[in-house]
Amino acid sequence: MSAYKLSPSLLSCDFTKLGEEVKLLEKQNVPYIHIDVMDGLFVPNISIGIPVVECLRKITDLVLDTHLMIVEPERYIEQFAAAGSDIINFHIEACKDPLSAIDKIHSLGKKAGITIKPKTPVKDIEPYLSAVDLVLVMSVEPGFGGQGLIPETLEKVRQLADIKKNNSLLFELEIDGGVKLDNLERVKAAGAEVIVAGSAIFKGDTSANIAAFNDMLK
Ligand code: DX5
Ligand code: ZN
Repeated sequence: MSAYKLSPSLLSCDFTKLGEEVKLLEKQNVPYIHIDVMDGLFVPNISIGIPVVECLRKITDLVLDTHLMIVEPERYIEQFAAAGSDIINFHIEACKDPLSAIDKIHSLGKKAGITIKPKTPVKDIEPYLSAVDLVLVMSVEPGFGGQGLIPETLEKVRQLADIKKNNSLLFELEIDGGVKLDNLERVKAAGAEVIVAGSAIFKGDTSANIAAFNDMLK
């Protein structure tokens, strides 16, 4: 088993082929599917939501890694849990009471993830690191696929990997934004364990792209 988990972001996929693309991911043993939910307020874009999670849940057992880029995410935790999300990631910048959001996610039998934007320091989430199952470091400003990775964000991945190791914490460390084959070694070296990639997977030949990522994540 690889130490790394690939979490392809559906934001860049051809939505007319959603089911087929998911079957391709399954065939190549991809463990997670990253679902980007945007509300047009927390980020200047609108994407997919609860009905899409429900449809995906009907066709796959893969882990549905749900990235909520919405204001007051606590309002929708129950609905995403009921729709079939396995991991519910919310942004620290959008949430007034992170501990109660984490508790709510856990009480619904789901994994809780906390997410930071590129300019948010690691210290802002330190109080929650022992409570969450996953920490997501955004390596681009959230809102759009296809942007370039901001190199400074890798320093935060390093910091979090150190904190995890030094305190024997259990969270998985995820990175999201601008990850491509040509920066994957640097991303791995920084300590990321769950690798989100959108355009690098779904632009061009999806199967060949997954195979190339799988090869580098062995
Ligand atoms: C951006 C999203 C990302 C995005 C990644 O707000 O959270 O998941 O889809 O896409 P790429 O890999 O193209 O940067
Ligand atoms: Zn995302």
